[in-house]
Amino acid sequence: MANREVVIGAVRTLEEVGARARVFVSMPVVKGITSRALSDHPASETAPTREPFRRLQGIFGMDEGGISYIDHAPLYGDACFEGILIRNGIIFLYREHIDRLWRSAAGLKIEIPYSKRELSWQVVRTIQAVGFKKSESGYIRLVVTRGLGDLGINPKKCVGATVYAIVSTIRLYPREAYQKGIELGLSRKIRRPGGSILDPRVKSNNYLNNVLGLLEGTNNLELFEAIMLTDDGNIAEATVDNIFCVIKEKGYRTRPSKVKLLTPVGDYCLNGITRASIMTFARRFGYRVEEVPDLMPIDLLGSNRECFMTGTGCGIMPIVKVCGSQVGDGSPGEVTKRLLREIERAMANPRYGLSSSATKAELRKYIGRKHSPIQL
Ligand SMILES: Cc1ncc(COP(=O)(O)O)c(C=O)c1O
Repeated sequence: MANREVVIGAVRTLEEVGARARVFVSMPVVKGITSRALSDHPASETAPTREPFRRLQGIFGMDEGGISYIDHAPLYGDACFEGILIRNGIIFLYREHIDRLWRSAAGLKIEIPYSKRELSWQVVRTIQAVGFKKSESGYIRLVVTRGLGDLGINPKKCVGATVYAIVSTIRLYPREAYQKGIELGLSRKIRRPGGSILDPRVKSNNYLNNVLGLLEGTNNLELFEAIMLTDDGNIAEATVDNIFCVIKEKGYRTRPSKVKLLTPVGDYCLNGITRASIMTFARRFGYRVEEVPDLMPIDLLGSNRECFMTGTGCGIMPIVKVCGSQVGDGSPGEVTKRLLREIERAMANPRYGLSSSATKAELRKYIGRKHSPIQL
């Protein structure tokens, strides 16, 4: 059984989240199926979509409303999602996230019943309902599911997508973790499948493989993340983060081209938005960046090396040990720290996202923009 203290801590954390979080929920109305807590709620309104059934939408507390037991997300993991960070009053790289959500839904052949602008407006309204202080970090979990269907897997028997966005405060890794770096475990048995099994470009809700990889890779260890390998034994990614290796050749302090960043090719990893940001920043600094198919755990070690992982939740996290073996001198390297400072700067720069207090007009202008500050 799980450690009692840990479980009680988890309950407290959830209670904190529940006290602040607000959820935008949108789902079809099917008599006898759609929760009455949702349809009878004063915050429910008819959604202005063109579907051949009535759809309800509204912004609720975490303990109100609720998606259906027969939604195909809880039944089959048939859904896609985005995790998005709010920092300094900016929804960081929001358009890049909403564009990826649309690509994921298209990959799963799920039709989103809103335009990007309509859905984003509901996200902004939900953020405003939480009422963040400017100094607070927030997190958005935006989910699009296959929706209500019978108990078989057939998507053709489903009614229409359920869409929801949880907006809450977030507990990031402690500051100390960024200063000292963390250790990564390694999942040896559970591997990251390639595109013929689960297309890594689709950010789906099917994470069971990653959950098992995390359990295996951190088994009995006080670790938070683990590397997953491809079938060939090369690094694919971590369970919710991308991996980078830094190689510093002699003279790198005066010649940035002597710094090389290696990261696995996109065939076995999510094409992470933080990964793309880091590649953009690194190239701007004059570092060489290569996506390689055969990066191995042993390549992360060595005295002239650094390692870090990237993801929306952690930003850039220095890795100082892999499975008990030291990376570099066992402390976060200078290249990693420089990139860490750069992403912190970007998170405070309005050019890198959407204002969390955007008006409808500002939102329209933002969503309509074509160029991205990062190379995707
Ligand atoms: C499997 C996996 N890889 C990588 C990432 C990092 O991607 P991003 O930087 O877009 O958050 C995530 C984030 O959720 C993930 O789940």
